[in-house]
Amino acid sequence: MDAQDFSVEQRKINLNMIQELTQKIQNLPIEEQLEFLAKEFEGRIAFSTSFGQEDQIISHIILSNNIPIEIFTLDTGRMFEETYKIWNITNKKYNTKITAYFPDKNEVEKMVKEKGIYSFYNSIDDRKECCNIRKVYPLTRALKNIDLWITGLRAEQSVTRTDLALLEENKTFNVIKFNPLTKWTYQDVLDYIKQNNIPYNELHDKGFLSIGCAPCTRAVKKGEDIRAGRWWWESKDKKECGLHVDSKVETRNLKIESSKIKL
Ligand code: ADX
Ligand code: SF4
Repeated sequence: MDAQDFSVEQRKINLNMIQELTQKIQNLPIEEQLEFLAKEFEGRIAFSTSFGQEDQIISHIILSNNIPIEIFTLDTGRMFEETYKIWNITNKKYNTKITAYFPDKNEVEKMVKEKGIYSFYNSIDDRKECCNIRKVYPLTRALKNIDLWITGLRAEQSVTRTDLALLEENKTFNVIKFNPLTKWTYQDVLDYIKQNNIPYNELHDKGFLSIGCAPCTRAVKKGEDIRAGRWWWESKDKKECGLHVDSKVETRNLKIESSKIKL
């Protein structure tokens, strides 16, 4: 495949390109998938981490194999203390400095002055406004010069993610999105973390399965849905913060079989 096809200027992301890439990497182990894409998208590839279990696996693979992929996080300003701790532990363990993107101070100050410090509990619109200001707009900055965006999404996580593909077009940010853990089960994640002694957020041992901002995340009870603790006051099908809502539908409909990654 010609690397020119993926140049920043052109951004000619199309379904053929995604299909071709998928066919090339779908049967490779995750390390080789990341290495292949790092070469193909040199300097234009980045992984976003929220330091959840899935993200810790991807960071571990990138950092312990020295794969040239930028790792960044979106610090919303409302994160758990435990999340800052695992961020620091990760930096130290892998001798790295994960990049942080922060929200625009003027936008946060305006929102808080007008709507208060807990505006996200008022309505779905106010919650989305907060997610936009604290996560989505900073993500737009983070992806400005990026053509391939890696995430820790899994299809099993939510009803809004069941048709998640290994590679997708994302129209919102005009990038190709790579979800290497698409087909992993939660048990796969736990096993991989244990087998590889990967550091993880201590909140996971206290019933927090999916971890976002502190005021919008709570622990779940045994048997409850993995994301039941996120925005628990909203219905299941609305629970996306805007980072992952707009992947192009046609891409998902390609139904390319992304084989489960061999552990
Ligand atoms: S969210 O949209 O509901 O917050 P979730 O917590 O499931 O997403 O995480 C899914 C993926 O989105 C993560 O694996 C990570 O790639 C990305 N992500 C979510 N939150 C952040 C964040 N604060 N910083 C960077 N990446 C994030
Ligand atoms: Fe705001 Fe909650 Fe969204 Fe965090 S998860 S950005 S606090 S609404």
